[in-house]
Amino acid sequence: MPPRPACDISDLSLASAGRERVVWAVRRMPVLAAVRERLGRERPLEGIRIGASLHVTAETAVLLRTLVAGGADLALCASNPLSTNDEVAAFLVADEGIATFARRGEDRATYDGHIEAVLDSKPMITIDDGCELVGRIHLSRPATASAVMAGTEDTTTGAVRLRALASAGALLYPVVVLSGAATRILADSRHGTGQSTLDGIMRATNVLIAGATVVVAGYGNCGRAIASRARGLGALVIVTEVDPMRALEAVTEGFRVMRMEEAAPLGDIFVTATGNRDVISADHFGVMRDGAILANAGQFDLEIAVGALGRLASERTRLRPMVDEYVLGESRRLLLLAEGRLVNLAAADGHPPQVMDLSFAVQALACEWIVRHAGTLAPSVHEAPGSIDDEIARLKLEAAGVEIDALSEAQREYLASWGSPS
Ligand code: ADE
Repeated sequence: MPPRPACDISDLSLASAGRERVVWAVRRMPVLAAVRERLGRERPLEGIRIGASLHVTAETAVLLRTLVAGGADLALCASNPLSTNDEVAAFLVADEGIATFARRGEDRATYDGHIEAVLDSKPMITIDDGCELVGRIHLSRPATASAVMAGTEDTTTGAVRLRALASAGALLYPVVVLSGAATRILADSRHGTGQSTLDGIMRATNVLIAGATVVVAGYGNCGRAIASRARGLGALVIVTEVDPMRALEAVTEGFRVMRMEEAAPLGDIFVTATGNRDVISADHFGVMRDGAILANAGQFDLEIAVGALGRLASERTRLRPMVDEYVLGESRRLLLLAEGRLVNLAAADGHPPQVMDLSFAVQALACEWIVRHAGTLAPSVHEAPGSIDDEIARLKLEAAGVEIDALSEAQREYLASWGSPS
């Protein structure tokens, strides 16, 4: 067993339950296993201190083991106070010797203290899932940036904030955004979010989706996946959008598209996936049906205006672990899931391991790429290089035993030519 690292977790005795979870995930993550094997041989991360703010799940543990195999020294905090699996946190400390600062349900002060603890480890690479580390460095610890060679950011929402920081000329170090990587879009947004969001809603409530009217706010990659899975379960799906092209896409997919104001009195279940704030707000709560369920699949807990809901309500009661009932007026009750936080991670286990296999392989290879390009990257926002997608797709196909054709020389020449075909 490795030496006990600095940590703040709920209960170290949960480590063996965490180990079982990680073993289950490892068996479904062959791409990361292949990456781990290579990084273990080449040790490109030797002596690199990595600070990570991630959801503390079994799949995250598999990523961190991969980075440790490559030689990295890690410190981890949670990227959401409700998504930590305490068993996995214990496993990371006991079995992997990783400095872990995360307790499920931690209050704001503890959550903030855990981010500070990770930054105290003087990371040379920051890994973010929602800009927490990079945000804290820029807001209150700019001196920490001098040791950072680069960071990675996993989410689309985070990438938007980083681009705003970069265009204000205020970004202190390079950050590689991973949300645009093709393998990540395929796995995470399209398959992961669709399944895990519905899983979170069903585990939290056990309501029947078939026949329900589900209102999905946002028709980006995530909203599209949620709408499609809800429809697959038999729901009648309404989409709301602000982007005309996306709205048109939803219309052509056969969804009803309307303004949230019109959808509010119709929905049985509402799911936000927009990356923006106050998508469901006071005016909407006022006209919703009794018993309407509100869930958020976006990164931050501001898509549903939870504060306004609290002010409108005469009473709030926790009905089930992930369900709060808000009573409005005489007798209308709205049911908020997971306090408006990411429902797939708070009420379920997040994306399945097969999905995180691809997403986290992007993370691991991006860390390697950063180290191999240290000193050459400008302090701006960088896209993950296409070579990473190619390697991951190749490894995944290999693991699945799928072989594909290769271009012949004549075909290569044809594609490179500009004259009339002969
Ligand atoms: N984000 C979504 N699902 C996840 C998971 N299972 N582990 C870590 N981060 C995630």
